[in-house]
Amino acid sequence: MKILANDGISQSGIDALTNDGFEVITTKVAQEQLINYINEHQITGLLVRSATKVRKDIIDACESLKIIGRGGVGMDNIDVQYARDKGLHVINTPAASSSSVAELVFGHLFSGVRFLHDSNRNMPLEGDSRFKELKKSYAKGVELRGKTLGIIGFGRIGQATAKMALGLGMNVIATDKFIDKATVSVDFFNGQSIAIEIETEAMESVLKNADFITLHVPAQKEYIIGKKEIELMKQGAAIVNASRGGTIDEVALIDALESKKLSFAGLDVFENEPTPAIKVLMNPYVSLTPHIGAATNEAQDRIGLELASQINTLLKG
Ligand SMILES: NC(=O)c1ccc[n+]([C@@H]2O[C@H](COP(=O)([O-])OP(=O)(O)OC[C@H]3O[C@@H](n4cnc5c(N)ncnc54)[C@H](O)[C@@H]3O)[C@@H](O)[C@H]2O)c1
Repeated sequence: MKILANDGISQSGIDALTNDGFEVITTKVAQEQLINYINEHQITGLLVRSATKVRKDIIDACESLKIIGRGGVGMDNIDVQYARDKGLHVINTPAASSSSVAELVFGHLFSGVRFLHDSNRNMPLEGDSRFKELKKSYAKGVELRGKTLGIIGFGRIGQATAKMALGLGMNVIATDKFIDKATVSVDFFNGQSIAIEIETEAMESVLKNADFITLHVPAQKEYIIGKKEIELMKQGAAIVNASRGGTIDEVALIDALESKKLSFAGLDVFENEPTPAIKVLMNPYVSLTPHIGAATNEAQDRIGLELASQINTLLKG
């Protein structure tokens, strides 16, 4: 059976699938040529990340397809219910990338509180001519320890982020549409761990009391953070978004950064991917990454192995 990993797959995933007797194809087929390619090569499994879209047209036209796999969490690029109604298996790897995304959130937080994103833009240009001025302009950093992190969406990644925050000595508050409380276990390298129960609270109270807000919700139809929500936040607070573009109103965000209501933002996801707004990209108070939350070797290994194991069970088990 042939598996087309159209957005790539880790070597560990390829090895596991090959060992199980599958042929893995890693050619990147353009979206408009996918139907032809799948039919011509009689592909059984189509694996994607977020780039390839698997809509009704592909599901209807490709009879050889038995399984669609998403390496990662959000399946908004796949017509999941439609595929399942037609008898296809649709799988993803929900837990594999949580720690990697959580670490990136802290990358943005550390960057924001010490101006690393801006310093990295200006040091190459002026580090040798205006060292003292730059030193002064980046002098008023703050520590994360002792501050309050507000987590919106307290699922897998929200809780993984909470662990890191607790480990750093931060206070954690959270809100979630469905989860009332969660026990977060902070694990140390020597096997010791500390379990802390966190009860979620109303969104409004999280917005009002957090020094930093981080979003970990699925794709939404409407903004979660717009002008009204930003107004509720503390003066000088900051926001990180490594969930999905479209959860924050970027126009309201840029206005809030320009008026100094917010001190910085860390963005891994954008309303208009893959062509984010220039106003967002050019803003000196935004720490930027191009949707790389799950892009670590460790997460990709876990994703590849998890997909391989599910495919083997579903198609051969
Ligand atoms: N940046 C990246 O590369 C990257 C990588 C992996 C996942 N993600 C994204 O991270 C997000 C979270 O992933 P997860 O694994 O934690 O998912 P999850 O399903 O475990 O958790 C999401 C939580 O959000 C809550 N929620 C949904 N709508 C809400 C709302 N309007 N207000 C408050 N809470 C709400 C849900 O009840 C759930 O508990 C997803 O959007 C996923 O696509 C991004």
